[in-house]
Amino acid sequence: MLDNISKEHRNIASLLKVLEHKLELIRSGKTVKYKLIADIISYMRDYSDKYHHPKEDVIYDYYRKYRSSDAQQTVSNKLENEHDTLRQMTIELADVVELILLDAVIPLDQFSEKLENYINYQWRHLDYEEQEVFPALKEALTEDDWRNIEQNWEHSAARDPLFGPQIDKQFEELAERIAISES
Ligand SMILES: [Fe+2]
Ligand SMILES: [Fe+2]
Repeated sequence: MLDNISKEHRNIASLLKVLEHKLELIRSGKTVKYKLIADIISYMRDYSDKYHHPKEDVIYDYYRKYRSSDAQQTVSNKLENEHDTLRQMTIELADVVELILLDAVIPLDQFSEKLENYINYQWRHLDYEEQEVFPALKEALTEDDWRNIEQNWEHSAARDPLFGPQIDKQFEELAERIAISES
């Protein structure tokens, strides 16, 4: 389960890299395909925020209940708060991108600052999980624990519309873009 989550982290990382590249283009005054930014944000909103983070929350909840000492409680509280913040930031960003796509006049420096904050927050969160939280989980949780956790995760069959075996029509262009930048 943790391997699967780490794989999703690598996927998210590749999306963040595309966003970083877009941010650079915007800052240097170049024209940018906002549709691709919108696709990434909607993937984050409809998949990451709906399945990836809740899946982690199930693990942290279990860890907090059965395996962590009082001193470690703050870890999972912090993570849950960060998930909430990320969800909120994604929604806000999605709204702005939608306005841009509708040709509304949005000050670009304002947008790029929002985008930069989002990218940075995502990286920090990802690194924190990978470098501090996951090693602690690996050490504390047994095979039995993982089996219990998987039973608590009722969406285990959730389909990834971008990195899964079947790519949604909406994400075809984005999938191609990621494949190009990785080759
Ligand atoms: Fe997370
Ligand atoms: Fe994560």
